Amino acid sequence: MKFFIDTAEFDEIKEAYAFGFIDGVTTNPSLIVKAKRDLKQVISEIANLVEGPVSAEVIASDAEGMIAEAHELVKLGSNVVIKVPMTPEGLKAVAVLSKEGIKTNVTLIFSANQALLAARAGATYVSPFVGRIDDISMDGLTLIQDIADIFAIHGIETEIIAASVRTPLHIIHCAKAGAHIATVPFKVLMQAMKHPLTDAGLEKFMADWKQANQ
Ligand code: E4P
Repeated sequence: MKFFIDTAEFDEIKEAYAFGFIDGVTTNPSLIVKAKRDLKQVISEIANLVEGPVSAEVIASDAEGMIAEAHELVKLGSNVVIKVPMTPEGLKAVAVLSKEGIKTNVTLIFSANQALLAARAGATYVSPFVGRIDDISMDGLTLIQDIADIFAIHGIETEIIAASVRTPLHIIHCAKAGAHIATVPFKVLMQAMKHPLTDAGLEKFMADWKQANQ
């Protein structure tokens, strides 16, 4: 399973890339607003900083508007992927964009049917939202597993991005369930890197070293 970082904060992306395990970036309108940045400016900066795919979400709700926005967004970088909401209009846009060779990430996926239909419409990626399903007392990880099974049975090449990842345990479960990618907030990546026994072990090694060399 690959890792994308789910943020529009430039500094977080820069720091996370230095760790060497990040393959791409996802953003959404809420993250752009939170970063207090202009959509096109921030996408252009991110797309120039990273080599991997950078998902930028359209704002329009009709297919024609989404396609027009997508044509503008892909000018910002050859690695820009168009994030499209899982709506009937969104799928019409995906069908056109995929025929034009533009990569798409269908977002706000909450059922296996939605993932299958988006894949058949030509989506490069589908983004099931694990955390938001857990939020309503349902099982987001079963959804990842179901989509992974269906795509494997039918030889579907669309990649599954586990989104709305909230905890380090989500990462492990998404990897086991067959997600190709997990898009993870900076804070959760940092939590996943840490272990108290690593810290305690390092402290002991350093203390022993210091004592022996005094
Ligand atoms: C995914 O592409 C979304 O940007 C994101 O993962 C949503 O996460 P949230 O449910 O924590 O807002």
